[in-house]
Amino acid sequence: MLLRVLGTAAGGGIPQWNCACPGCSGARAHPGRRRRHASLAVRAGEGRWYLVNATPDIGDQIEAHPDLHPGPGARQTPVAGVVLTDAELDHTLGLWRLREADRLEIVATAPVREAVEDRLRLGEVLTPYTTVTWRELDTRRTVALDSSGSGVRIDAVPVSGKRPRYAAGAPGHDAWVVALRLHDPDTGRTALYAPAVAAWPDALHRAAAEADCVIVDGTFWDDEEPRRTGISSRTATAMGHLPIDGPQGTARILATLPGRCLYTHLNNTNPLLDPAAPEHKELARLGLEVADDTLVIEL
Ligand code: MLT
Ligand code: MN
Ligand code: ZN
Repeated sequence: MLLRVLGTAAGGGIPQWNCACPGCSGARAHPGRRRRHASLAVRAGEGRWYLVNATPDIGDQIEAHPDLHPGPGARQTPVAGVVLTDAELDHTLGLWRLREADRLEIVATAPVREAVEDRLRLGEVLTPYTTVTWRELDTRRTVALDSSGSGVRIDAVPVSGKRPRYAAGAPGHDAWVVALRLHDPDTGRTALYAPAVAAWPDALHRAAAEADCVIVDGTFWDDEEPRRTGISSRTATAMGHLPIDGPQGTARILATLPGRCLYTHLNNTNPLLDPAAPEHKELARLGLEVADDTLVIEL
């Protein structure tokens, strides 16, 4: 199994266009600190890739990775489709940028599909441009990543009922946010991708404990960070992101897991954006890593 990390930032990216915080200013001064919105490409077969989430950076993300470039036919693309972990805008806005496609396959849970179709009106808007097809991610059964049915299998592990703000009035469902368990039957290896973690349910823990590689929501370093930095009146947990550090934090959980563990979806307030921050040493002491936008994982 081959995974390419396409981005590791939370909504807004790093730098965020309207933000002069130390993280964003640092990234303007040091382009090596820039991060695109969190996303992953998973190889489904020879010259076939699925993107996990479609971010506002999707065009640049495809250009940055030669494996995702079109060819040899003039309009032949290796991007076979998009799998969604949730319906958040930072994970879905890129779908509209794919309107030049001959067809666009989207794999998502029922509530995520409803949000994107009924509230964001993707189908209505894109129908004059391309053919959108949906495949359901059902949390009770394994599906093939590739529409051809071969190769990597996916299980959607329910994480939380956190709805996007634009869908606040939508019905509750345990599959608003899922983690993706990606299993390669040929190598027997498994990766778990969980970029939005508002809770750590048992099913997520079991999947994480079995995985060879775990990539997890690292939006905020600590629970008070959004309040301390003035971006919100709510704590990280109240914003739907378990922090990395502290008693509610994910670091102490990840440190007990046997697989390789990395953080993604970093917010621009996160001290980890500075490569010299002491927080990196704390993570290293626990055997944990921060993913970057060029990371390639072969399992
Ligand atoms: C989140 O990760 O909580 C959302 O993407 C926040 C947002 O709406 O930008
Ligand atoms: Mn987000
Ligand atoms: Zn900022």
